[in-house]
Amino acid sequence: MARRSVNLDEKAAYADGRGFWNSEPVDGLPSVLFSDGPHGLRKQQDGDDHLGISQSVPATCFPPAAGLAQSWSPELLARVAGAIGRECRAEGVGVLLGPGVNIRRSPLGGRNFEYFSEDPVLTAALGTAWVRGLQVQGVGASVKHFAANNQETDRQRSSSDVAPRPLREVYLRAFQRIIEEARPWTVMASYNRVNGEYAGESSFLLDQVLRGEWGFDGLVVSDWGGVSDRVAAAAAGLDLEMPGSSGLGARALADAVRVGRLPEEVLDRIAGRLAGLARRVADAPAPAAPLDLAGHHALAREAATRSIVLLRNTGGILPLSPGVSLAVIGAFAAEPRIQGAGSSRVNPTHVDVPLDEIRALAGNADLTFSGGFNADGTSSPALIAEAVAAAGKADVALVFAGVPAGLESEGWDRDDIELPAAQLELVEAVHAANHRTVVVLTHGGVVRLGPIAGTAAILDCALLGQGGGRAIAEVLFGVVNPSGRLTETIPLRVEDTPSYLSFPGEHGHVTYGEGIFVGYRGYDARCLEVAYPFGHGLSYTTFAYSGLMLSAGPAGITATITVTNTGDRAGRDVPQFYVAVPRSAVVRPPLELKAFAGVELEPGESTQVTVLLRAADLAYWDARRDRWVLETAAYRVSAGASSRDLRLTGDVDVAGDEDPIPLTMRSTVGELAATPAGQRFVAAFRPGGADLDSVSEALGSDAFAAMAAIPLERMVRMTGGQLDEESLRKVLDAANTATGPGDGASAR
Ligand code: BGC
Repeated sequence: MARRSVNLDEKAAYADGRGFWNSEPVDGLPSVLFSDGPHGLRKQQDGDDHLGISQSVPATCFPPAAGLAQSWSPELLARVAGAIGRECRAEGVGVLLGPGVNIRRSPLGGRNFEYFSEDPVLTAALGTAWVRGLQVQGVGASVKHFAANNQETDRQRSSSDVAPRPLREVYLRAFQRIIEEARPWTVMASYNRVNGEYAGESSFLLDQVLRGEWGFDGLVVSDWGGVSDRVAAAAAGLDLEMPGSSGLGARALADAVRVGRLPEEVLDRIAGRLAGLARRVADAPAPAAPLDLAGHHALAREAATRSIVLLRNTGGILPLSPGVSLAVIGAFAAEPRIQGAGSSRVNPTHVDVPLDEIRALAGNADLTFSGGFNADGTSSPALIAEAVAAAGKADVALVFAGVPAGLESEGWDRDDIELPAAQLELVEAVHAANHRTVVVLTHGGVVRLGPIAGTAAILDCALLGQGGGRAIAEVLFGVVNPSGRLTETIPLRVEDTPSYLSFPGEHGHVTYGEGIFVGYRGYDARCLEVAYPFGHGLSYTTFAYSGLMLSAGPAGITATITVTNTGDRAGRDVPQFYVAVPRSAVVRPPLELKAFAGVELEPGESTQVTVLLRAADLAYWDARRDRWVLETAAYRVSAGASSRDLRLTGDVDVAGDEDPIPLTMRSTVGELAATPAGQRFVAAFRPGGADLDSVSEALGSDAFAAMAAIPLERMVRMTGGQLDEESLRKVLDAANTATGPGDGASAR
């Protein structure tokens, strides 16, 4: 290998990018070109930046994650990522910087539009499919932003202070599954700190968890400009600094090796990983077919139709009946907002304009357009009056409302989840003039619906990419039956959101105070009403569920139901499977999504759906054991059409994998009494004495109840030595060796 003969400085140089988007060539292999995504290729030609300022080569702009995830379709995501991969190949791009799989912790998160969901299991399934779909094309993914990067406020420094259980169960879970199942070629370390340590300098995250526990064998790249101490980062496992630091990083690394601060093997490993990546890129077989941009636009349209959630549809107002006269209102109908701002901004090859597409499908029906408000969200009494007059004359008013581009972006968080006041005023006035008002909503992060909630129908379009205009028209006219489902709860007010009191933190720290109760887990636990629950989405047909069957095995719980299309149109349903553990030894959310499926059914057709609720997803993170634990318990499985529309429920026993935690002097009297050896001892010790026949009576007594919470080491002192340490230790040994104390024993 050419590398063997390189000197220390040359070796260190591999760890530094070449310019903004390239790595250094290594082992005679060409340098690797990295480009942004994730909902399309953003390859820049001139004027490099990573803020979405300079223009990039034209590429298909697919729905951003906020939209695409609403399809709940791994298969669709794989196809979209595949198309992005083909565009990467045509442009010589080796690694696409995506997908973004951070959890939407707060609806205020400025970059939520780049992330899939508030739920880790859904994020994991979608992210896994996306990475596979991309990498099959011979382009590496860069799963980002690792880890706990859930806000934009102070994003380069802020420490996400998160306890082990939520860290594993909520924030790392999707990363873990994607790494283990889709084997991404690269992972991007995030800017922020996690529990006080920069993610890119955390040997816990990069070395112990990512590589050690999950077996990641690829390259870790910094977020752009996200390196503080290059030597600490390299030692922790961060391989490539991007963009290149013009040699600063390489010099620091070489010097550190010279003075013995960094083992030279670290640089060898980095060079090896870079060579591994370059080889994967170089060895990728040539694309089988020439690039088909028209086909990709068609896919962008299909993806957009699948991303639309029909939130509400009263009186069967949708789909629109042929020939109805329409008042189309709102700037977004003519100037659609198709994506978010920042590093993910794609330069679309074409943009479908909703107004044009609605005109095309409306045929000869009367149609007027009034702006109602400007694209920046402002309005005027004249604009509103014009829209109201048009609405009053039409059969149906279609209002295109939404969050203007300037209000959400990478780089900052939102202050609230409100739509501009002028738009709310407009919707109210239009609705008063015409009760057959349909709202088409565009947004990255979720919005409070306010007066929109009472309109006749609502299409939640999130962000739909370049095919959104056609997709909206096809859903409105029923060419396509909507099948999207919410991936984030729409709260009644931002104050109800679980992270509200601890977002975005202060003085460089954000405490993840809601723990595992993120998203619906938190609304459900506090019995809060929401505007629309996680998983909700209507169709122009209806579906019924029947015949829940459950069985448990080593792989997890297998659940089967029958889904029937009970309406008169073909449609796609997304049955969801939620789990509760009613008698769990640990705190659990009232229910958690563990599996879902997608089924296409003709009118009257039925089909059986079988899903696996994976054992790995049923497990909780036990901080005492420092590992995942599958609890032995009865698991309650519900099949539903949303997290708050559970249709079938059953219980199944699962054999878990708890191992005993040894009792110590810090264990309590009650914990000791939970073991056979301990029971006899504790009962015998009962003040006043007790014979062995009355063990249960002794343990049921008030005296015992008062003692149960006292740690054994304190009992020794409290009894003035009457309970001596030596005999206690003997009984501890007996309890630990006999049957084992089981779960719920002493805390560490
Ligand atoms: C973003 C990344 C992006 C990178 C390169 C950073 O500011 O956080 O998501 O991939 O820039 O543009």
